[in-house]
Amino acid sequence: MTAGWSDAGAGRDEGWADGSFDATARIVDAGSDTDERQVEAALRPKRLEDFPGQTRVREQLGLVLKAARRRGTPPDHVLLSGPPGLGKTTLAMIVASELEQPIRITSGPAIQHAGDLASVLSSLAEGEVLFLDEIHRMSRSAEEMLYLAMEDFRVDVIIGKGPGATAIPLELPPFTVVGATTRAGLLPAPLRDRFGFTGHLDYYAAADLVTILHRSARLLGLEADEDGIAEIALRSRGTPRIANRLLRRVRDWAQVHGEDRVTHIAARRALELFDVDERGLDRLDRAVLEALCRRFNGGPVGLSTLAVAVGEEPDTVETVAEPYLVREGFMIRTPRGRAASGLAWEHLGLTPPLDAQSMWSATLPIDDAGGGRFEG
Ligand SMILES: Nc1ncnc2c1ncn2[C@@H]1O[C@H](COP(=O)(O)OP(=O)(O)O)[C@@H](O)[C@H]1O
Ligand SMILES: [Mg+2]
Repeated sequence: MTAGWSDAGAGRDEGWADGSFDATARIVDAGSDTDERQVEAALRPKRLEDFPGQTRVREQLGLVLKAARRRGTPPDHVLLSGPPGLGKTTLAMIVASELEQPIRITSGPAIQHAGDLASVLSSLAEGEVLFLDEIHRMSRSAEEMLYLAMEDFRVDVIIGKGPGATAIPLELPPFTVVGATTRAGLLPAPLRDRFGFTGHLDYYAAADLVTILHRSARLLGLEADEDGIAEIALRSRGTPRIANRLLRRVRDWAQVHGEDRVTHIAARRALELFDVDERGLDRLDRAVLEALCRRFNGGPVGLSTLAVAVGEEPDTVETVAEPYLVREGFMIRTPRGRAASGLAWEHLGLTPPLDAQSMWSATLPIDDAGGGRFEG
């Protein structure tokens, strides 16, 4: 069985135990791997200096943490944004370990009521790190409580119900919130403004993925050839989580074929088997491009129409497939919707219609509308 995006409906609703959501789970082994979390934890870099790539974010964050440690006070709140699998959770844990503080982990979907947040906040110790994953999925009332807590280190605990209810202010010791989101554009401005530092994670260069893969191979006790590693790096969609997962599939292939080594041939064969193409596009990526070109004649077409055509949630298309397709130049965001680029037609081996070609020169892509980065 190939576990791909189309039969990963279960994976879509399947959050981690802490309530977070892993949209990349479908890409190779759709949540079938129960060891996944343990392996991920084992492969996670523990310190900033072991974290390859994202140079700018790493340097900026390093400075913020170092200064805070010198002063002996908790640093500003930190917001990390970017597509799934690029290292947001890893960095949150690194923040705590660099500060030598415990970390409390929860997520937006797990906080449905302000009371849920109040009980987490009121149990924080001084200097502790509170990691709020998928922070854009928190309820409105919890959001408002969080503004106050982040700014004034105070929560209003509501005692009683109805007209007789009273709010009792409760002082909190200073702490640090690390928020993570795949959708920075969805955060209300007042919440965004309370983060003193914002880091936007971008897809990794192949050279950084090579470094990450060598490290993972070593931790997994695997021998690896340079060209085998390079092949995996090129096909990992710029995403460490996918790189690590593909590495394990290549290991499976190699071991079944009587070789305990990541070779070039093992990498190629395994990646073919798991439907990852030469540009690292997976089945969802290709389905999106196929729909754009074949069904909508290259577009432009609205996000929700496109999502229906590939049988996915608009959110998945927008946060998982689209950022990579746009960044690699396969897809263009126009004011009237999503369109296929010349590269998309070429990649699928199709000839673009003439009117599509005139559209590419007539429309300017809009940058990051609604989903992208903002500078902190
Ligand atoms: N810079 C990095 N170096 C090494 N491994 C990384 C890096 N970034 C992410 N990873 C690995 O990728 C996996 C996913 O990272 P994670 O932090 O959970 O991503 P996110 O929270 O952004 O979805 C983890 O197993 C982690 O070990
Ligand atoms: Mg995460």
